[in-house]
Amino acid sequence: RILIIDFGSQVTQLIARRVREQGVYCEVVPSQKAPEAFKTFGAKGVILSGGPASVTELDAPFAPQSVFDSGLPVLGICYGEQTMMAQLGGGVEGGHSREFGRAEIEVVSESTLFDGVWQTGKRYPVWMSHGDRVTALPQGFKVIAVSEGAPFAAVADEARRYYAVQFHPEVVHTPDGARLIRNFVREIVGAKGDWTMAAYREEAIAKIRKQVGKGRVICGLSGGVDSSVAALLIHEAIGEQLTCVFVDHGLLRQAEAEQVVTLFRNHYNIPLVHVDASDLFLKELEGVTDPETKRKTIGRLFIDVFDAEAKKIGGADFLAQGTLYPDVIESVSFHGGPSVTIKSHHNVGGLPERMKMQLVEPLRELFKDEVRALGRELGLPDAFVGRHPFPGPGLAIRIPGEITREKIDILQKADAIYLDEIRKAGLYDVIWQAFAVLLPVRTVGVMGDGRTYDHVLALRAVTSTDGMTADFYHFDMNFLGRAATRIINEVRGINRVVYDVTSKPPGTIEWE
Ligand code: XMP
Repeated sequence: RILIIDFGSQVTQLIARRVREQGVYCEVVPSQKAPEAFKTFGAKGVILSGGPASVTELDAPFAPQSVFDSGLPVLGICYGEQTMMAQLGGGVEGGHSREFGRAEIEVVSESTLFDGVWQTGKRYPVWMSHGDRVTALPQGFKVIAVSEGAPFAAVADEARRYYAVQFHPEVVHTPDGARLIRNFVREIVGAKGDWTMAAYREEAIAKIRKQVGKGRVICGLSGGVDSSVAALLIHEAIGEQLTCVFVDHGLLRQAEAEQVVTLFRNHYNIPLVHVDASDLFLKELEGVTDPETKRKTIGRLFIDVFDAEAKKIGGADFLAQGTLYPDVIESVSFHGGPSVTIKSHHNVGGLPERMKMQLVEPLRELFKDEVRALGRELGLPDAFVGRHPFPGPGLAIRIPGEITREKIDILQKADAIYLDEIRKAGLYDVIWQAFAVLLPVRTVGVMGDGRTYDHVLALRAVTSTDGMTADFYHFDMNFLGRAATRIINEVRGINRVVYDVTSKPPGTIEWE
């Protein structure tokens, strides 16, 4: 196990990804909580992340002294290097030479960190992002790589197994970075790399049994991958003590609600309460056009309906949720104030406060792609676990303006054709998310010999790794033409199709 101490870098999660890709379990803790966490975690090695602070400031965060006293291997990255140098008796100076972005480093000495990857005397591309720089090394350290702006681009004390780099090995812009991290966790720390989804499944099942005992659990299914995987895992652990409640707001993609019901009831034989609440949702959404009001209305109704069902079932002690690791990692903000709300996200958030039940969250330690792997491990079909992300408020936020049953129907049909074409073109897995948006705009067209006056449909497709930033997908124009023709021919109510070429930022992925 590796403990990653987070000093607030935007990319700390990527360090965790890279470590887990090596089959080694790790967790991220904010630096304020590191002393406690380090005591109980049982780390075999520690990684110090980057961060926006400067060690030259009085209130700069630092690594717990116990980490250095423990004799365990430590890898410092960027700010992690600087605090390590400062704490071990070296020198760090504020921003004379700033380096941001692509840089080249030259390897000047052999090191276990570079074994089998980098050779002495050669130059390699890396990603730099720092203002301060190290000016003097603590005792026992030597320089193993230099760059123009950072004479201490990589340093090592091989005897104590301390390593530190000024660049970011965790990002893809450092092409060999993953292999350096591999060297640290596998060679230097000596972790076996036997952490697999099969092992996780066994551990998680044991944990759920221990937590729940003979209690009853209810699980809210949304139709998405996360809650489905959580439900399956819990069912495997405690069988009939679990009841699933699927609040169907009528705003899912075409045929998706039936799929969920069939999969759970028939295929897995899991008790499932399917609440068709579409009338209620549509009624409350009548006349609502403001995006935030839509989101809040749907969030509130979801909780109401779920709560009512839970009361009917009665006697449940636990509430299961498909919370993922990225939602759990506390974001550390040293300089920024609270961030502004761009959109109120609706998952099952708000439920726990209201229901006063204990939470069962078996996916709390996993990233999205790991949840998918676990889903496959549990026998979920590839096509199900590989589905694009879908927002909690569903198609409501893909119909700007007022929502009606007719519009939902038009959008479901058009969206299904678009996704069908994407699958046929073999592009589904290359694209992070693709969907259609039904615009509250009508335009004039001509079909056959007649005039039409129908809706405009916008198509959206983006690539992304985490949904935080995104680029619009560069389709071949022939593809777009084909999809548009099919949609206009097959869906009544649409006579024009446009493609959204906005990236995020400045756009967001969804339109509302
Ligand atoms: P935006 O539109 O903010 O979306 O760029 C980023 C990602 O989040 C998804 N999304 C949501 N997911 N509940 C969710 O679970 C929500 O309320 C919600 N709103 C947006 C969106 O589909 C994209 O993947």
